[in-house]
Amino acid sequence: GLKIVTIGGGSSYTPELVEGFIKRYEECPISELWLVDIEEGKEKLEIVGNLAKRMVEKAGVPMEIHLTLNRKEALKNADFVTTQMRVGQLNARIKDEKIPLMHGMIGQETNGAGGLFKGLRTIPVLLEIAEEMQNHCPNAWLINFTNPAGMVTEALLRYSNHKKVVGVCNVPINMHMTIAKLLDVDLNRVHIDFAGLNHMVYGLHVYVDGQEVTNKVLEYLANPEIQMTMKNIAPLPWQKEFLLSLGVLPCPYHRYYYKTQQILNEELEAFKTGTTRAEVVKRLEDELFDLYKDENLSIKPPQLEKRGGAYYSDAACSLISSIYNDKKDIQVLNVRNNGSIQGIPNESAVEVSCVVTKQGPIPISIGELPPEINGLVQQIKSFERVGAEAAVTGSYEKALLALTINPLVPSDEAAKMVLDELLQAHKAYLPKF
Ligand code: G6P
Ligand code: MN
Ligand code: MN
Repeated sequence: GLKIVTIGGGSSYTPELVEGFIKRYEECPISELWLVDIEEGKEKLEIVGNLAKRMVEKAGVPMEIHLTLNRKEALKNADFVTTQMRVGQLNARIKDEKIPLMHGMIGQETNGAGGLFKGLRTIPVLLEIAEEMQNHCPNAWLINFTNPAGMVTEALLRYSNHKKVVGVCNVPINMHMTIAKLLDVDLNRVHIDFAGLNHMVYGLHVYVDGQEVTNKVLEYLANPEIQMTMKNIAPLPWQKEFLLSLGVLPCPYHRYYYKTQQILNEELEAFKTGTTRAEVVKRLEDELFDLYKDENLSIKPPQLEKRGGAYYSDAACSLISSIYNDKKDIQVLNVRNNGSIQGIPNESAVEVSCVVTKQGPIPISIGELPPEINGLVQQIKSFERVGAEAAVTGSYEKALLALTINPLVPSDEAAKMVLDELLQAHKAYLPKF
């Protein structure tokens, strides 16, 4: 059977993953799951690891669960390595969200200033893991869920020797599910061509049984009663004429760019009431871990669906199974562009529909992005590239540049102010700066 290593195994999301592996055990027999964490995460690792053990036992699946703080030992001869950590934990996320808000900018963990800082903290750690994989499991795939997945995948593809890297996000699968439900047809009858970047992906065309229904879907989504979103993004409705003339499906995260002022107002309100997303998630996590501690619990509790990452295991587990089984099905993944989107460098990461084979995901050729969306995608790609370079080099100037070119940062002065404050706040997790 397969050996899977999950780094950040103490995460509250682990039961999602374990459930996904249990469901697919027949087609994808995992004999060993190694949950790895660091000293600070030891307690969480034990709680969630024991739940994982109860889950496999109850399901009657012969999957061994190992808990360890020794990453290198765990990596030996792994087939797949998944990464889901949060450097600096939720307290760092609180700073990523609140400090930009104090300067009048959107505070979000994957977009704008908060996104850059999550990248600066995370990228060096993931590069180290990729390096260790070269020594201990050079043929294993690194499947990354750690945010900001776009910038992180960009950094891994450009700066690591380990090339078997895929970034995963649950946004496309959530859009796919929502649209199938809206159209009231089975998921597998709906096909969507996805292209763009992580948390900046668009549905270019929607088909049902091969018939294009893009405009019909846009009409549905223009109804203010229907708000395709995720649990972590305020369900602000799209302006109807905008959506219809855009002609493609934006993802929930596009609200940060096309509804900047409205989202900012929502966030400032949340700041006042102590209900920023990070603070809400902190309370949710406490609740979740209380549930996980209960020895009578041996399934993934439904409360986990209050998190923005609900169903991400479907994305991750189907990816592993499709590589293992050479399924050649279509999945939306963060991979090396390789010419799939014209106008983006071959070696850059894109989030795009791929055919998943034994050799890994092969991106489907999209051609040029429509001019209506190309500009924003290019600007965010620049942000990701410069941000990744800042993370690798520890360059203050590059970090400042990344912020200044980000559309959610209003000026060079604002960029410097928020940069200096975030550098100070996250000092302990930014050894390169
Ligand atoms: C979405 C994104 C994930 C992100 C999550 C945050 O699902 O795709 O990348 O981690 O939301 O959810 P949370 O519950 O932590 O706010
Ligand atoms: Mn995501
Ligand atoms: Mn079309």
